[in-house]
Amino acid sequence: MKNPAKILTHFTKRASDLDWRILLLILLSLTFLTYVSLSSTTTTVFVSISTFTPLKSIFHAPATPNSIPPVRVNPLNGSRIAVCLVGGARRFELTGPSIIERILKVYENSDLYLHSPLDSNAYKLLLLNDAPRIAGVKIFEPKPVPETESEVRVLTPANSPNGIQGLLQYFNLVEGCLTMIQAYQKENNFTYDWIIRTRVDGYWSEPLGPENFIRGRYMVPPGSSYGGLNDRFGVGDYNTSVVALSRLSLIPQLDSAGLTQLNSEAAYKAQFTTQKVQVITKRLPFCIVTDRKYEYPPARFGVPVASLSSPGPLNGAKCRPCKPVCTGSCVGPIMNRLYKGWSWTEWANNTLELCDAHREWENGWEKLFDDVAGKNLPSARKNIRALNMDQCVNGFEKLKKRTAHYDGPRSDKICGLGLKSR
Ligand SMILES: *[C@@H]1O[C@H](CO)[C@@H](O)[C@H](O)[C@H]1NC(C)=O
Ligand SMILES: *[C@@H]1O[C@H](CO)[C@@H](O)[C@H](O)[C@H]1NC(C)=O
Ligand SMILES: *[C@@H]1O[C@H](CO)[C@@H](O)[C@H](O)[C@H]1NC(C)=O
Ligand SMILES: *[C@@H]1O[C@H](CO)[C@@H](O)[C@H](O)[C@H]1NC(C)=O
Repeated sequence: MKNPAKILTHFTKRASDLDWRILLLILLSLTFLTYVSLSSTTTTVFVSISTFTPLKSIFHAPATPNSIPPVRVNPLNGSRIAVCLVGGARRFELTGPSIIERILKVYENSDLYLHSPLDSNAYKLLLLNDAPRIAGVKIFEPKPVPETESEVRVLTPANSPNGIQGLLQYFNLVEGCLTMIQAYQKENNFTYDWIIRTRVDGYWSEPLGPENFIRGRYMVPPGSSYGGLNDRFGVGDYNTSVVALSRLSLIPQLDSAGLTQLNSEAAYKAQFTTQKVQVITKRLPFCIVTDRKYEYPPARFGVPVASLSSPGPLNGAKCRPCKPVCTGSCVGPIMNRLYKGWSWTEWANNTLELCDAHREWENGWEKLFDDVAGKNLPSARKNIRALNMDQCVNGFEKLKKRTAHYDGPRSDKICGLGLKSR
């Protein structure tokens, strides 16, 4: 049977274009469907919850993406899924809860793997206590990755803030997550069906849908391709994921293929072409929350910064909470100036609203965030702000106990580093 909640969500988004009487009719028939399915499966318990929210939104206000709870019906039921979460926790009080609600709780039986450097924001990772399952956590003290001759031949330091070393640090972060997954598989004698690879600084405005899982292909978002492939998110079956995540160990093969001067995205693309894995792109509802400043309006090779309030999907474009300076008909002329194979991102159909990001985050960004984030997310932001040392240490101790493989500094070190710096 098709998933009624999904159909409902689809209709709700278009509520404004439709005669409400037609909608009422659809709702009535869906309620009936839900009733029927309630009697047979357990998964529909969640369906019945989600039928109420759209009702509210149809009759009171236009539905925002955030008023729709995650659809907890898992068509990948029975599949084993690993979620690989990598990167620094800079604004994790904003991104973490969205990842938990819109990825981890949607695929409740998935195992989370975290690979993150120790810094003054790492304490925010205790928010992962709300994740349904945690298999592995590795929080490491960053140190230089040795540069091999073939890496120096294949990679370019151009446009990477820390040169080739910066690329290698990032590749190590990603491949390290695969290493954690493989160790766990070996120990427990199984192989995951799917691996979802995502970033600690990703803000998800809507759930990751099951349509993004396609056997034998690797799925990445469109845009932000910088001469290769958008490397800010990916999902695939186990074999294609091994190709995607082997960012360091495939470099000798890129070298043998005679490739040189690659940036991260170009190397990523070459991993798939040399290993003959087909890549497809699908639009995805997340953006990368960044504190960096960017020129506005962006030049041909500049970086557009989306407002978190954009209707989306934002396909992993850079974003921040802002009052957008450019919406509607203003967006096209600016985005059309960008080079399509570089920082360009999809903007058609009013999905994108732009920030002027040439300064720090504006005063009052907290309220702007809370207004778009919906009900549950702002509380994490406030809790992190109010956290004291005892609560932080207790939070990490709890996380440690819940995690099958925990590898990180002592809780008081992580917490001390963070709370002192505030
Ligand atoms: C989903 O998985 C659970 C346990 O793995 C099983 O009991 C249930 O029948 C499955 N449901 C469907 C619709 O496949
Ligand atoms: C692992 O699983 C396979 C197939 O299910 C089985 O034949 C093998 O004995 C298992 N090995 C261990 C060490 O449990
Ligand atoms: C995945 O790769 C392994 C080893 O290379 C191979 O034996 C297996 O058939 C592959 N599985 C799929 C679904 O392609
Ligand atoms: C914009 O909307 C039109 C009409 O619904 C659709 O055909 C088109 O694919 C959309 N464009 C994008 C980029 O989503």
